Amino acid sequence: MTTLTILPSGTTTEFTAGTSLLQAILDAGVKLVSKCGGEAKCGACHLFVTEGRKGISKMTPAENARLDSLIGIGSKSRLACQVTLLGTEAVTVELLGALSG
Ligand code: FES
Repeated sequence: MTTLTILPSGTTTEFTAGTSLLQAILDAGVKLVSKCGGEAKCGACHLFVTEGRKGISKMTPAENARLDSLIGIGSKSRLACQVTLLGTEAVTVELLGALSG
């Protein structure tokens, strides 16, 4: 088990390797909208991965294309529905609220 920290609330949760980042956040009881059902189409699950980037899966072309169309993206931007938690190190994410698509 590895730790996921969710900002700005500071909620922490444990996850097993192979868990979707979106699912881990929802399992922790934190609200994160997923309008497209995890298909990389809505952008509503956009967040920043602030720590532990070696502990998450690489970006797919579909995720990259969707992020390019969103407002407020940065070098730490990811779509939670497209990220798999690898379990190799602890991960910290920052939810963006109104910035998300
Ligand atoms: S839930 Fe729609 S892009 Fe992630």
